[in-house]
Amino acid sequence: MKKTKLGVNIDHVATLRQARFTRYPDPATAALLAQKAGCDSIVAHLRKDRRHIQKEDVFLIKDLIKVPFNLEMSTAASIVAIAGELGPNQATLVPENRKELTTEGGIDLIKNCKKVKSAISKLKQKNIKVSLFIDPVKNQVKAAKELGADIVEINTGKFSQDSSKAAQEKELERIKKAAVFAKEKGFFVAAGHGLDYTNIKKIIKIDEIQEFNIGHSIISESVFVGLVSATKEMISLLNS
Ligand code: PXP
Repeated sequence: MKKTKLGVNIDHVATLRQARFTRYPDPATAALLAQKAGCDSIVAHLRKDRRHIQKEDVFLIKDLIKVPFNLEMSTAASIVAIAGELGPNQATLVPENRKELTTEGGIDLIKNCKKVKSAISKLKQKNIKVSLFIDPVKNQVKAAKELGADIVEINTGKFSQDSSKAAQEKELERIKKAAVFAKEKGFFVAAGHGLDYTNIKKIIKIDEIQEFNIGHSIISESVFVGLVSATKEMISLLNS
């Protein structure tokens, strides 16, 4: 049976902390609990506006965890410099807009070719694997290959938000096609954004997706059942 990996994004533990500027809850503790539950990697997004995860958090997390650390980040020079200093196992490049509630779409690799190329080159100099968060579009997968990325993460945001069954099925088909094409191109294929304990059941049918990166739903569930149980519940869905 194929093992599908789970990366747990712990940003929203920091969101809760930053709501009151307290010292708790600590995202590094969350990372350790998700690791204890058996997740395959820890994901954190160090945003330029520092709305949740702070610079100190990523250094502490990197020091404490044994599973790979995937730093989500924009191509901003200041963040690329921090990533170089930190040395996570992987960096996932995402677009970042100040006013967005959360990442709104994949990075447009054609429009942002220069910026992405420069960030990839700096990250690779530090031996950091690079993943590109893209919409499920063939041309974006092609561009990711030309840019020399190691991984593509397909944006499942639209699939997660589609309210009608027909629209969701259509988007699922688009994701499947992009995942097949990315696999053919030799990529490790990840996916994520907006996934929860219900919609995951549809998307795990796409065999080409090797890893899911999930945050908000797992952290939300953990409020009621604890992070170890919430993570285990998602792992069991991924491998059922
Ligand atoms: N993957 C990427 C690239 C993201 O930007 C995010 C959100 O930070 C996630 C996965 C996780 O999304 P969610 O919190 O909706 O599960």
